Amino acid sequence: MIKVNLSGCDTFVSKADVQNYTAKALDAFDTLMAGNGEGNDFLGWKTLPIDVDEALISSIESVRDDWKAKGIDLVITIGIGGSYLGAKCAIEALSHSFVRPEGVPQVVFAGNNLSEDYIAELMDLAVMRNTAVVVISKSGTTTEPAVAFRIFKEYLENKYGKAEAASRIVAVTDAKKGALKTLSTQEGYRTYVVPDNVGGRYSVLSPVGLLPIALAGFDIRAMLSGAAKEREDLLVKGEDNAAVKYAAMRNLLYSVNGKPVEIFVTYSPKLAFVAEWWKQLYGESEGKDGKGIYPASVNNTADLHSMGQFIQQGSRIMFETVLNVQKAQREVVIGTDPQNLDCLNYLAGKRVEHCNAMAQLGVKVAHIDGGVPQMEVSMEKIDEYNLGAIFYFFEFACGISAYTLGIYPLNQPGVEAYKKNMFALLRKPGYEAETEAILKRI
Ligand code: PA5
Repeated sequence: MIKVNLSGCDTFVSKADVQNYTAKALDAFDTLMAGNGEGNDFLGWKTLPIDVDEALISSIESVRDDWKAKGIDLVITIGIGGSYLGAKCAIEALSHSFVRPEGVPQVVFAGNNLSEDYIAELMDLAVMRNTAVVVISKSGTTTEPAVAFRIFKEYLENKYGKAEAASRIVAVTDAKKGALKTLSTQEGYRTYVVPDNVGGRYSVLSPVGLLPIALAGFDIRAMLSGAAKEREDLLVKGEDNAAVKYAAMRNLLYSVNGKPVEIFVTYSPKLAFVAEWWKQLYGESEGKDGKGIYPASVNNTADLHSMGQFIQQGSRIMFETVLNVQKAQREVVIGTDPQNLDCLNYLAGKRVEHCNAMAQLGVKVAHIDGGVPQMEVSMEKIDEYNLGAIFYFFEFACGISAYTLGIYPLNQPGVEAYKKNMFALLRKPGYEAETEAILKRI
């Protein structure tokens, strides 16, 4: 289903290197499939598309129907990192850019920052609306979502009373441990489980992503089917396996061509958050031990007018991966103007998407000429089925790519460094020694 085209790399790499890195990626494929690399206890995401059963899907849909019956028109989804980006990415991609359909709640996000203005402004919106909250944290202890949840829990309880507030809160967290689990049990919230063996950035096809996506009115069954079909395709080992091709080439460009930056390129504003989800997946999985490709992104054609100059002629440190969508969902044709004062009649009768495709091709040739290799990852169209496939494709390819690079992809030890300092500066009990030490340094 998902196709990878490497023709934009041909002039930069030798056949021998392609063969060599394909062989490495095929070994990494075996490691991922056998589950005998480091981190095999976090590989639950590999089977999520077939593990999510009818009971779980129906239960998620019953929350949606229940809140619909209450007339809820605002769902504040609280979470950060992997507990936020997948849902945000899917909802942005699938939603109408400007109009919310009748009877479907607006799903907004909190707990992904510590900006007081943001929270205060979201509160302004909640005051005007019929509000519910989904709080997502696997550990149940992450500071940003915990702070946001404390604020919005109190808000719901003051507005609706404790019992009604509890019916407007759903938690997604660990099955047994963490502050959010304890609190949910005590308060009687409906809860969904983040499976033990699924890390945050690989969790979009678990209740972490599925619940908010369903609440926003989208078809999670189709999303899981698309992921399951992609999984079937990717389980076939071989040089033509799309994930093997992508993983092999990005490692080759990094290690042999000395390109430490990968720019994820999209050609629709609706896809800008696919890049954000992808950046976390690859950045947090591979950026370790002084190694890894730095994941960056541009959203074209807008960014051709901002970052285009650098990509064309700046430091030659990058390659591009273009997310290519074969079919637009809507049709807009450019009209004829008898006066032609804007000199655009040469485009009359053409679809805007045709112009977008020609821009994409023009950029491909220009960037190759400028020394930027380009890979293309193609999906048929932007819908639930194809997004499910994209999620699964990039997760699977990330596992292969990280093992090819010799990196353990399933932890994120570096994320703890800032937390320790922040806790010390916030005077969290237990961090007294760190507080003393850090105060001497600032
Ligand atoms: O990929 C990850 O594991 C992280 O990005 C986490 O998802 C993020 O830190 C949030 O963690 P939690 O869900 O425990 O609040």
